[in-house]
Amino acid sequence: MNDPRPIGLFDSGVGGLTVLREVWRRLPGESTIYVGDSARTPYGTRPESEVIAFSEEIADYLVARGAKAIVIACNTASAVALQALRRRHPTVPILGVVRPGATAAALATRTGHIGVLATKATVQSGAYFAAIKEESPAAVIEERAASELVPLIESGELDSPRLDAAIADLLAPLRSSSGGWRIDTLLLGCTHFPLIRAAIARGLGESVAVVDAAAAAAAGLADLVAVNRLDAPGSTRGTAADAGRLGHEAPAHVAVTPTREIFTTGDAAAVTALAARLFRSDELVAEHLDLSAPRHP
Ligand code: DGL
Repeated sequence: MNDPRPIGLFDSGVGGLTVLREVWRRLPGESTIYVGDSARTPYGTRPESEVIAFSEEIADYLVARGAKAIVIACNTASAVALQALRRRHPTVPILGVVRPGATAAALATRTGHIGVLATKATVQSGAYFAAIKEESPAAVIEERAASELVPLIESGELDSPRLDAAIADLLAPLRSSSGGWRIDTLLLGCTHFPLIRAAIARGLGESVAVVDAAAAAAAGLADLVAVNRLDAPGSTRGTAADAGRLGHEAPAHVAVTPTREIFTTGDAAAVTALAARLFRSDELVAEHLDLSAPRHP
């Protein structure tokens, strides 16, 4: 309960910022380091071997920076690279977003008929299908590969007739012959997609619930931090490791101000401007990161 080291998060670009913001909301006392691999986005149309190699490179950086836990804030990398990263860094707890997303969808559905909108690589991995089936064996799951939406979002296109048309085309196969929806829940299986949630919800109408993994992943991280007793100094939050106690006292020493670093492998000014536009907030300021640069501890 006294570990000031940062939590590391990464994504192929700006999508994982949806998870980062949930982590800030849920764990405001924790320092974070976020890496968005904008120079190599998108991941969702790449072969598995490439997504694993890029994910390993970023995880190595985060571990070298002293990350006490890592959140893979990218469904594609979670689906494809989670086990490889856990094998590579066995002493660092690593959390993906697929399982929290699957749980959220299984809890939200009433009819058991769930749609998943994800990247091509995520759909091909079968990770969501397996994770939802584990939660809810009777679930009927229909997955749609929607990689073409990622570059639109990375270019800041959140609301346009072109986006609406692309969404309508992607969702059309989920309609029944009477024109209604076969699904009652759509899981946004890509961390970029909460940024176009309004356009997706508009395309679906009111009969389909839209869920994503960001809040569930942040809740999972909070549990992980608590159970492993990794809380930052000054945290006053009760933990699952404190069974039998009514919450717990703040540590006696003064809280350390958390640091919040955001890196991009791409153009820092462009990513900062994009994040300001996407999130209508100026708190997401990116710095450039060269992953190939030699590092001195
Ligand atoms: N945001 C990512 C995901 O959750 C990746 C999108 C991409 O790079 O294709 O899948």
